[in-house]
Amino acid sequence: MCGIVGYIGKRDVAPLLLEGLQRLEYRGYDSAGIALHGSGTGRAGGLRTAKAKGRVRDLEAKLPPRFAGTAGIAHTRWATHGAPSDENAHPHLDDAGRVAVVHNGIIDNAAELRARLTAAGVVFASETDTEVLAHLIGRAEAETLEEKVRHALRHIEGTYGIAVLHAGFPDRIVVARNGSPVVLGIGEKEMFVSSDVAALVSHTRQVITLDDGEMATLTADDYRTYTTEGSRTAAAPTTVEWEAESYDMGGHDTYMHKEISEQADAVDRVLRGRIDDRFATVHLGGLNLDAREARAVRRVKILGCGSAYHAGQIGAQMIEELARIPADAEPASEFRYRNPVVDPDTLYIAVSQSGETYDTLAAVQELKRKGARVLGVVNVVGSAIARETDGGVYVHAGPEVCVVSTKCFTNTAVAFALLALHLGRIRDLSVADGRRIIDGLRRLPGQIEEILRGEERIAKLAAAYADAKSMMFVGRVRGFPVAREASLKLKEVSYIHAEAYPASELKHGPLALIEPAVPTVAIVPGDDLLEKNRATLEEIKARSGRILAVAHVEQEKADDTIVVPANEPELDPVLLGIPLQLLAYHTALALGRDIDKPRNLAKSVTVE
Ligand code: F6R
Repeated sequence: MCGIVGYIGKRDVAPLLLEGLQRLEYRGYDSAGIALHGSGTGRAGGLRTAKAKGRVRDLEAKLPPRFAGTAGIAHTRWATHGAPSDENAHPHLDDAGRVAVVHNGIIDNAAELRARLTAAGVVFASETDTEVLAHLIGRAEAETLEEKVRHALRHIEGTYGIAVLHAGFPDRIVVARNGSPVVLGIGEKEMFVSSDVAALVSHTRQVITLDDGEMATLTADDYRTYTTEGSRTAAAPTTVEWEAESYDMGGHDTYMHKEISEQADAVDRVLRGRIDDRFATVHLGGLNLDAREARAVRRVKILGCGSAYHAGQIGAQMIEELARIPADAEPASEFRYRNPVVDPDTLYIAVSQSGETYDTLAAVQELKRKGARVLGVVNVVGSAIARETDGGVYVHAGPEVCVVSTKCFTNTAVAFALLALHLGRIRDLSVADGRRIIDGLRRLPGQIEEILRGEERIAKLAAAYADAKSMMFVGRVRGFPVAREASLKLKEVSYIHAEAYPASELKHGPLALIEPAVPTVAIVPGDDLLEKNRATLEEIKARSGRILAVAHVEQEKADDTIVVPANEPELDPVLLGIPLQLLAYHTALALGRDIDKPRNLAKSVTVE
């Protein structure tokens, strides 16, 4: 959430920053702004800014004439302190107009600092927490910009990823990280900074991800990294594996559609090079858990937020079924606040697409502090959670730009299947069952293609159900996390209220909601619970409810059925949710929603 981009070099900076902001817009999109060292305007040496409430295109329309320079910083915002407005948009300046700051994160003691600065005569121009930082840097008594920033940061409690310009130091950008991502992009006689590689890859694939407590100075020809205390750190660039084209729309109208459509290839990637037919298992190179340690695990606890948590629920069931280890999933955001008992025989697994979600990261840090073993199931290589965990499985979904997760959810569920198979084969799973699961895994990409070929019919169904007042999603055991994820998807992109319930719980209360205007989406796999699920359909029908079933065969009691190919029962949840991603997408399309940027949401929630 919120995006930072900065550039210093020889090129005209404003178009570069606008392009970077567009690539970051999925992280926050209620306002945007740019600050640059002016040149060619008769005001060289001065900072110039442009800010606008709204999208990046609104900022572009507001850029003043001859807004030019070769060093600048920019920001796209997702409001936390202060409503979206021109004034609250970043960059924020000190009162002398000589310091400009863009900031991701939250300054916890902003109110106290604001009171202190106001008492000292500072007049604030915005309601943001970030502005205190600009004033602190502006007032810091120090020789260099690095020292000024360091002095200011000593007063700050909270999280930040910042980039700073100072009129007195036009040859540099100073950046710092504590809890919010900062990535340097190393070019040829030009340097970039961003909160996300998405804004860098069309210019350079050589990147350095700062650690918490690290700062950096970028000049046109060089970069230098050091701790907030000033000692040099040895950060070497790594090469980003994702191509710049992976961030393009690739002929689709939305990223959501593109990402749904890419799932067969994405699943192929998470499987690639990992299957071991000889021993009917998989190799997970980065797991860092040897066979003896895996056998000693007594419980598995999976932590994540939103869709990642739902994928974790599917994962917990797979681990219980295939490895026979008691496992459950919990929202990381709850776990970290309830002083959980941290058990040395439990294996903890943090799940995250971005690897930056603050609640999940905080849960990992708390667990590590208490001596737990924590693995990660993460998409973004080198992200904070990937680095904080002891090992794990990368899900290799490729970049996910749409705010709502689709392909990453699917790939995470498959990554859990791999982990469950691996743990199962070390413990009690037979060779025959191992082979059965491997065969099932290999069938997934083809079956995903088959589901996606049914898109036209799903679009028609979406149009038919788009008038719903609210929707109920039900499933049993393996179908329940599928129902939860599908319900989340629908409400995020279509704004139709939706509830997910275990099908068995319907009669304990929510049945009261059933009426023709509240249709039910029922997950009805052909597993051992089929008859129970059919009984649920009867219950709903008896109350005049409309039913859309997602099943392996047509369901007589349903008004409509989306038939999904069957895999092995343990792997069915991977497939059952895919038509419902399309249902959410086409419902949102029918209702004219802003699909890639749903209201009030931003990708990667890097604040509490
Ligand atoms: C929903 C969605 C969110 C994220 C959640 C966690 O479509 O995308 O619920 O799953 O914010 O994000 P990550 O996986 O980056 O930790």
